[in-house]
Amino acid sequence: MIPPKHADITARVAAYIEVAEMQVPHAQAVLLTLLTKLIRATTVVEIGTFTGYSTLCLAAGLAPGGTVTTCDLTSDYHEIAVRAWEAANLADRIHTVHGPAARTLRDMPSVPHIDLAFIDADKTGYVEYWDLLLPRIRPGGLVLADNVLYAGEAAAPEAAGNAAAIRAFNRHVHADTRVEGLLIPVADGMTIARKKEDAGDRRRAGKARRRQCRIRSGCRTDDQRDSDLRAARRPPTQ
Ligand SMILES: C[S@@+](CC[C@H](N)C(=O)[O-])C[C@H]1O[C@@H](n2cnc3c(N)ncnc32)[C@H](O)[C@@H]1O
Repeated sequence: MIPPKHADITARVAAYIEVAEMQVPHAQAVLLTLLTKLIRATTVVEIGTFTGYSTLCLAAGLAPGGTVTTCDLTSDYHEIAVRAWEAANLADRIHTVHGPAARTLRDMPSVPHIDLAFIDADKTGYVEYWDLLLPRIRPGGLVLADNVLYAGEAAAPEAAGNAAAIRAFNRHVHADTRVEGLLIPVADGMTIARKKEDAGDRRRAGKARRRQCRIRSGCRTDDQRDSDLRAARRPPTQ
């Protein structure tokens, strides 16, 4: 069943009959929220806002304090989007950027800081967005890409136009050893790619967890922590 806040925006978009199909369908919308929740995302980037439905679903899955930065070339549907975000009490978690997605991504810090990115804009730009996003995605973060089946046309070697662009994108992703993932047949096909962690990433994550642990326990230096650990391992004295 479509929750009322989602039904509201779906109904309004249906008025734009010729472009309404650009909006993600409900099952995919639910999956966007779920994936965002599963990785406890706080920094989410979306390419292709349109009327803000997928933005809303990503924002609904954010961990506390998280934000979605969503970008679109056009501001034509911005008012619809903002109304829906406000109705869902999520507007304060969403930042909008108007302009070409490649420029928006280049303006972002080029270090791994994004937890999840959703690509759903011009198909010929997908490979460029992927290449700009990957260095900015944190290890263990996700890149999702919509319409990767392109109604089945992307599977044909003679694919042309947008279908050919998606076909090239799918090959590009498949050849990228930095990620693991799959293409799932939800809606028009969605890629779910997880950025792998290397040994250095795991070491750094372990260090960060230990640091958090020390801070929480009020034991702020390595020496203090080590002496606590040694003490815990010693047999109790009589
Ligand atoms: C399929 S719609 C996005 C649908 C939206 N994610 C949803 O599910 O409700 C694609 C959007 O990408 C935008 N777009 C197209 N080319 C773009 C570009 N070069 N940079 C940013 N946005 C672009 C279009 O204006 C359009 O609103």
